[in-house]
Amino acid sequence: MTQYDYIKDIAKYGLENDYEKLLQVLNELVDYSKKSNKMNFAIQLQSILKESIRQHQVSGLSIVGSPKHILREEEKELSDLVLEKLTSDYRLKDLVCTEKVVSELQHFIQEHQFIDLLNKFELPVSNKVLFHGPSGCGKTLAAYVLAGELEKLMIVVNLGAIVSSKLGETSKNLAKIFKWAASEDAIIFIDEFDSLGKVRDYSQDHGEMKRVVNTILQLFDYLPKESIIIGATNQINMIDGALRRRFDLVVELEKPDEKHVKELIDKTLQHGNFVFKNKKDIPAIIKQSLGLSYYTIQKTLITAIKRSLFDQVDKGALSTVIDTHIWKELIAQEQLNLAK
Ligand SMILES: Nc1ncnc2c1ncn2[C@@H]1O[C@H](COP(=O)(O)OP(=O)(O)OP(=O)(O)O)[C@@H](O)[C@H]1O
Ligand SMILES: [Mg+2]
Repeated sequence: MTQYDYIKDIAKYGLENDYEKLLQVLNELVDYSKKSNKMNFAIQLQSILKESIRQHQVSGLSIVGSPKHILREEEKELSDLVLEKLTSDYRLKDLVCTEKVVSELQHFIQEHQFIDLLNKFELPVSNKVLFHGPSGCGKTLAAYVLAGELEKLMIVVNLGAIVSSKLGETSKNLAKIFKWAASEDAIIFIDEFDSLGKVRDYSQDHGEMKRVVNTILQLFDYLPKESIIIGATNQINMIDGALRRRFDLVVELEKPDEKHVKELIDKTLQHGNFVFKNKKDIPAIIKQSLGLSYYTIQKTLITAIKRSLFDQVDKGALSTVIDTHIWKELIAQEQLNLAK
């Protein structure tokens, strides 16, 4: 069958309201897409299918008197707790970091690629990762890399909505999200993980904070092997010690040194698509950039590229040469901002 044949069948069974056959052909299309390396499309389609099957199953409950609107309320509540549901194209090569970090991430990825082997020998599977380090150094990017490498759906938790001032509500919200993510075979990404330790600020009640930490400990302990939790924080010291120890892997993403700034430049210049005007000034600018985050260095370089392009357009020419001086000025400005 080709993709067109699947589309024709989907149209036919959809218009005939034949739900069973429609499901069957959609499942076949998921398999077909996986085989033809359209992994993101396959994951998205699978997720739509699962959602629809769940709705159908529960709407079937209306026979025993469970009104449909209850489900809708629950679903709405769940979707409020989620900031985003995404698939990712990022790969390890997109993250500039130390060899140690690369190897840690590679080993983590392997555990899930060879999960059947680990299960066969009844070995535990690492499935909880915590990324920490300063802002703009790749914590969120690293989470996307894991989702991309493992070709899994990632659920980005909306912490603002999860953390509630109502007693016991935060724990309940967390439990709901974990249960849902397990049913979706998705990665749960909890950014600003430390703010779960700040629940006491909302409730003025240390008991509530303890309850939340205990809930997470339990959820972690009963986490199915296939589920993956990724936490990120730039305040690792704020996280309860027992909770920190539960992570199988704690990865620090630091600010770049000279070698890593060079790598970042190379990626940002699209491996030679753009070039600097005064190449000899570059080593000094790299030195000048130390102390800034990957994000800031990349942002200033992209701004310099754009401004150089605009200047060329004004002069009626177009080349991909970057005015090195513009970048140097922007870096100097960022260093001043940092010192303030
Ligand atoms: N290590 C890195 N390698 C390559 N690019 C990076 C790296 N770190 C940051 N960047 C660039 O900066 C952007 C922002 O980084 P990211 O969102 O991952 O930072 P973060 O550590 O999560 O920061 P925050 O603590 O503010 O959430 C990335 O999308 C990427 O373009
Ligand atoms: Mg982030």
